[in-house]
Amino acid sequence: MCYRHSMKRLPPTAEGLAAAVDHLRGGGILGMPTETVYGLAASAFDARAVAAIFAAKERPLFDPLIAHVAEADPASAVAPLARLDALGEAACERFAALATCWPGPLTIVLPKRAEVPDLVTAGLPTVAVRMPDHPVAQALLRAFGGPLVAPSANRFGRISPTTVEAVEAELGDRVPFVLDGGPCAIGVESTVVAVDADGAVRLLRPGGVPREALEGLVGAIGLGGSGIEAPGQVESHYAPSKPLTLLPAALDVVTDGALEGPGAVALLRVVGSAEAGRQRLERAGIEVIEAASLSEVGDLSEAARALFATLRRLDEGPAARIVAEPGPGERGLGHAIADRLRRASARARAM
Ligand code: TXA
Ligand code: MG
Repeated sequence: MCYRHSMKRLPPTAEGLAAAVDHLRGGGILGMPTETVYGLAASAFDARAVAAIFAAKERPLFDPLIAHVAEADPASAVAPLARLDALGEAACERFAALATCWPGPLTIVLPKRAEVPDLVTAGLPTVAVRMPDHPVAQALLRAFGGPLVAPSANRFGRISPTTVEAVEAELGDRVPFVLDGGPCAIGVESTVVAVDADGAVRLLRPGGVPREALEGLVGAIGLGGSGIEAPGQVESHYAPSKPLTLLPAALDVVTDGALEGPGAVALLRVVGSAEAGRQRLERAGIEVIEAASLSEVGDLSEAARALFATLRRLDEGPAARIVAEPGPGERGLGHAIADRLRRASARARAM
């Protein structure tokens, strides 16, 4: 695709990192790689720079940001942002157990320090913290010497970027730099959990660390929070510009007339053969212009890694709309994949 942008790629070299740090210290914002998706970074304690993130993304101010910290002992890494002393003993233990996933795709919501700007937390008494497991993100955080807030580097409600090219397509006309860290290895955002003062742990967003893995560390995890507490969890999110219809289940249940609506479709399968999927839909009388599988062999890590780039590609392709299979269920990374596809379909459902 050809579009005009003035975003400059910084290489992940000593010079590139130094330029990135200078820019951030001067109050600038830039695209940053992580192992999940690319983020749009600013100094967590610079309220003006944080405001520039919201403006560039056109993100509503009620949607709080994640602060990223460098690799170190988890308690000392969160100290500038969060108050572990406000947690009871059980909660401290759960935090320590969860933090064994760091560095990695897990975000932990903790009581915040007064020093954290309200803009970062959307006025909530808590702050979301994560230690990314990407060598370039780690190098940037260490060189910068403080926490960086970074929402996914897409315009609000759009598909998250997993390559520098996608960051350029989303924000190239309004953000001056992106630090090049190659394609993201995980491909879906971090899992977000809250640790309450009494030690309860709640899942606010499924993501790169499966819920089962967290339950192995801290026991049963409750679901969700109030709408106020996880305001970023708006329904329509990760949305392509074309309508996306999520099938109720696997393709074999699609019958004639099940997919009403005009025009040829692009088919997105999470696992299994793209060609078999195409044939199945065509037998039900649906014209399939393009078919893609996130993992022909059924590997959910491969599927997660391919999810957003494939959605982007189908969105740019010739089909009038996208039809997606929900995938093999809510286990492991399947939970995050199904969640993102459901949100991507929310706008079409609302229409
Ligand atoms: O993998 C990721 O987490 C990526 C990379 C760049 O690190 N970042 C990311 O950020 O996905 P963002 O802004 O797209 O999503 C942040 C989520 C939002 O859904 C928001 O509601 C939730 O984290 N969040 C942030 N602070 C919170 C808080 N204090 N309480 C509850 N939820 C919070
Ligand atoms: Mg996002």
